[in-house]
Amino acid sequence: MCGIFGCILKEGNAAPLIHSSLKRLEYRGYDSVGIATISDGKMYIKKDSGKIDEVDKIVNLDDMPGNLGIGHTRWATHGAPLKVNSHPHTDCTGEIAVVHNGIIENFMELRAELQNLGHTFVSKTDTEVMPHLIEETLKQNPNLTFQQAVLASLKRIEGSYAFAIISTREPNKIICARNESPLVLGINGKGVFCASDIPAFLEVTNKAVMINNGELVILTADGYEIRRISDNSPVTRDPIKVEWTAEMAVKQGYPHFMIKEIHEQPETLRNTLRIQDHYLDLLATFLDRANEVFLVACGTSYHACLAASYMFSKLAFLPTYPVYASEFLEQCGKSVNIDSTLLAVSQSGETADTIGAVSCAQQRAATVLSLTNVIGSTMTRISRVYIGTQAGPEIGVAATKTFTSQLSVLAQLALKLAKKRGKISQDEIDCLEENLKKMPDDVETIVRTQEEKIKQIAKKYVDSKVFFFLGRGISTATAFEGRLKLMEIAYIPSIAFPAGESKHGPISLIEDGFPVVFICPRDDTHKTVIGNIMEMKARGAHIIAVVEEGDKEIESLADDFIEVPKGIPSILSPIPFAVPLQLLAYYTALEKGYNPDMPRNLAKSVTVK
Ligand code: AGP
Repeated sequence: MCGIFGCILKEGNAAPLIHSSLKRLEYRGYDSVGIATISDGKMYIKKDSGKIDEVDKIVNLDDMPGNLGIGHTRWATHGAPLKVNSHPHTDCTGEIAVVHNGIIENFMELRAELQNLGHTFVSKTDTEVMPHLIEETLKQNPNLTFQQAVLASLKRIEGSYAFAIISTREPNKIICARNESPLVLGINGKGVFCASDIPAFLEVTNKAVMINNGELVILTADGYEIRRISDNSPVTRDPIKVEWTAEMAVKQGYPHFMIKEIHEQPETLRNTLRIQDHYLDLLATFLDRANEVFLVACGTSYHACLAASYMFSKLAFLPTYPVYASEFLEQCGKSVNIDSTLLAVSQSGETADTIGAVSCAQQRAATVLSLTNVIGSTMTRISRVYIGTQAGPEIGVAATKTFTSQLSVLAQLALKLAKKRGKISQDEIDCLEENLKKMPDDVETIVRTQEEKIKQIAKKYVDSKVFFFLGRGISTATAFEGRLKLMEIAYIPSIAFPAGESKHGPISLIEDGFPVVFICPRDDTHKTVIGNIMEMKARGAHIIAVVEEGDKEIESLADDFIEVPKGIPSILSPIPFAVPLQLLAYYTALEKGYNPDMPRNLAKSVTVK
């Protein structure tokens, strides 16, 4: 997730406004920044890796001529956060500059095609194919206008994008286009603006024009023109008046980043499905050849590892060992050797315990792989191979969208391994792949249909002194995650363990009215989970069941139930089943009057041991 901005002013230089607007988009990405402006037919570009203020101190972003320009604040998905990978990107001639938010899925084939035509690429990004594509289109069709060349180039692009594009050939316009990544226009009497999000221009206007998927926009100092990319037909759309404050706008109208990020999960899960196949293949190859595999992480990321251990075992017959990073040295330090492989999972890529475990393994010559949400983080620099989860910055301290993104990537890895090892049928693989693709819609359905009910459940149990979270099989990982969420933002002591463990001690805690959350996908554990529910009910527990839609058997036993869509394979169930637990924790925290974005005693990234 990155932030793009473009503006054309009737008077004055564009750079200072672009700079301040990028600052307001910093929550969308902040590992690199760049601005391009045009003045007297010449392109000016300033860009570098680093936070906006750091780069500005070096290059003085405001000091650029021209009333027209574009800017970008980056969250790396392809290519580390280096100056050469920062946006804007240009064509060979430097006459065309592009900023982009999204993922171009076919960039490798386009890059090869353009390189064969003589184009020189300088970055590792997917974005850089766009300026060269426009350049090549104009070279082959010199009579095309800039707009026509952009339109023709867009038809070659597969994937998600919000582009803002300028050219010294037609220096008085900005062409922007949208497919899936957000794009919105701002207008006032002094100029026209395009941005990833409303906060970028809210200081200068509250008149916004929303741009839809498949639309191209031509901006000039006098206004905007919208056209459909499919057939170049005109679209008429009037501005709306935005009632948000700037602070509300950064949260897109949500009261907290946590609830915004919970609602973002359909989008982030779609992005996670756009990971380049060869990265998944490479990581799967390392795992396939591994003699032993440790899955190492902390907190929520550890729960993703716990779920992954079931995925790797059931789909690829690969035994893996989930280990708390803080325990890795004591538990495994002596046994790790050159034949060991470590898959470290860390949203921030900076967690000291996880980095410590990785360093320990590396000192013993183990192979270190990693999965992180922050490209360019320490974890990516010390791993032999890494994959980014493509979830965009997560501002809320509680991990939500990054958890479901980790699970999606780990499931894709397990499927890659299953194919390599031939341990499950192609039909089963196809079915699981289909369900993974459907997952964003399933999560969207859960949020849309269950959120109100979950608010009521949170109200009902807000004064409970303790919660149990129980699941069997892979749902044990989901139960652990539900417990952590409720503990860390609603501060309610919570206990989680495999449901089969209840009778080995914890059931002694049950008293009348004690809330027990059961995670109940309709899988092989369904029957035994019903037995566990009966055990708890017999001792007065109140059952809160997360069930598959229409599971009348468990719904009849539960005091409250939350439904997820039918037919989700158990091995993928932590992804959708975690969402109600995230919402339960969030609304319980609100009921208790806490700020879910800033839970007490916690930091977003624990960089101390
Ligand atoms: C999860 O909600 C917490 N914020 C915390 O447990 C977190 O998952 C843990 O600190 C690991 O962080 P990482 O994924 O950035 O390594």
